[in-house]
Amino acid sequence: MLPFLDTHTHILPKMDDGAKDQSESVSLIDEMLRQDVHTICLTPHYYAYREPVENFLSRREKSFQAICNDLDNRKISYKLGAEIYLCRELFNHNSFTELAYSETRMALIELPFRPIENHTIEMLERFSNQYNLRPVIAHINRYDLFKNKKLRKRFREMGCFFQLNLEVFSEGFLKKRRAISLLKNGEIDFLGSDCHNMRSRKPFISDPVNTLIESGFDNEIKSIYNRSLKTLKF
Ligand SMILES: [Fe+2]
Repeated sequence: MLPFLDTHTHILPKMDDGAKDQSESVSLIDEMLRQDVHTICLTPHYYAYREPVENFLSRREKSFQAICNDLDNRKISYKLGAEIYLCRELFNHNSFTELAYSETRMALIELPFRPIENHTIEMLERFSNQYNLRPVIAHINRYDLFKNKKLRKRFREMGCFFQLNLEVFSEGFLKKRRAISLLKNGEIDFLGSDCHNMRSRKPFISDPVNTLIESGFDNEIKSIYNRSLKTLKF
């Protein structure tokens, strides 16, 4: 297994539909280590229509405190962040700096699960300009963006980065082939497991990464790792 940076996880306990308690968080962390992953980002869901930023940050701090010793004892390298859902209620808030990957101006953004409309692009542009943050589009494999080269170009021109979930490598031939083509073209900036729990959404990392290495894509994986470490200031 090559070194791997998981840029998208729901390991923090009691934050969202991810780890339900500290014990599940620790199981997820141990599973990461078992798969030889030592560098992770903690990115719980943030929905602006459910709570103010301040509320989320205080919940996140409490949740982080519950597992920070577990992370430190296991010598895991980590960074706090959030997966920010793009919606109009975001614009009621003054700043998202503390929701970005810590010490960076990069924010993981979850787009609505429907075909991408001009309205969505306008919101993304406004988010980026108003808060001076560069969007990292979470799980690009779940949107029409994944198939649409012209749309990806438009997102790139707005300064967006793309994050791919490794789940795509368990989703059939066409999706796998498309993911590999994007990897080869250097269109993927970040990789992640988006793990939520130890049952239905376990960390799925070493299997797909090893398969990619066996298929000759080790340079692509190494290059993403090195670039993402640098961009996220690890
Ligand atoms: Fe997620």
